[in-house]
Amino acid sequence: MGKLDGRVAIVTGAARGLGAAAAEALCAEGAAVMLTDVLEQVSETAEALRARGYRAASSRHDVTSEADWARVVAETVAQLGEVNVLVNNAGITVAATIDDITMADARRVMDINYFGPMMGIKAALPSMRKAGKGSIINLSSNSTRMIIALTTPYAPTKAALALLTKNVAVHCAQAGDAIRCNSVHPGPHETPMLFGPDMDRSGDAAIKLIEPMVAAIPMQRMGKPPEIGSVVAFLASDDSSYMTGAELFVDGGLSLL
Ligand SMILES: NC(=O)c1ccc[n+]([C@@H]2O[C@H](COP(=O)([O-])OP(=O)(O)OC[C@H]3O[C@@H](n4cnc5c(N)ncnc54)[C@H](O)[C@@H]3O)[C@@H](O)[C@H]2O)c1
Repeated sequence: MGKLDGRVAIVTGAARGLGAAAAEALCAEGAAVMLTDVLEQVSETAEALRARGYRAASSRHDVTSEADWARVVAETVAQLGEVNVLVNNAGITVAATIDDITMADARRVMDINYFGPMMGIKAALPSMRKAGKGSIINLSSNSTRMIIALTTPYAPTKAALALLTKNVAVHCAQAGDAIRCNSVHPGPHETPMLFGPDMDRSGDAAIKLIEPMVAAIPMQRMGKPPEIGSVVAFLASDDSSYMTGAELFVDGGLSLL
């Protein structure tokens, strides 16, 4: 018996990294999971889960498109059932200070990291209400507490997402919906976001961003994606039934300094 038997989840940005780990952790607890991403690779990630006997589907999805959100929720309901769990994980970063930031980059990061989750919550809530029980999990960041100038385009989007989380949490609770909404705040984790082609484009800036953070982590190592997956599965499950509007920092103690 898994803790999420019979539950249906959508995980965005699930082709790789923390989203793929979250999808795997939810499947392992018995959930049926719709993995979405702009990357074609998302179908292979879902196929690998099916090969292990899990219930997983996939859809190409740009979280900045309201029409895409409506389609993804409809596909999930048709293929897997009404939605119980929404993991707003898709996100991007651009390393720049206020001197270097371009407004095009600033708006793009805000669109994906903040308006994407907002549209997702609006799109999924009616299905969650029909399902009778829901958990929304937003991937924020420990950059809401750790101030590093190079996260200027990124950190404010994650702070906005953390506050959206609390507003949704209070709204749903006061409306009598059995829908909880919490945020997860990872520190540096070993994913393509920090080591992949996107960061390669910003070259030295990315390295400067990561090195001092990793050196300062009290637990003296970066996090591994399954260490976020297990926290997402906890928040999705009834083990966290009295938690809503909470911020869970998963950063080896980094934001305590
Ligand atoms: N890795 C870290 O150290 C770290 C730390 C703090 C917070 N986070 C947050 O965790 C989340 C996942 O990060 P990750 O490290 O796995 O990154 P990643 O770059 O490895 O994965 C992010 C995924 O989001 C997808 N994506 C990007 N734009 C999209 C869009 N418009 N629509 C749909 N999908 C889109 C990408 O294709 C990718 O598969 C992000 O929100 C990130 O900000 C990561």
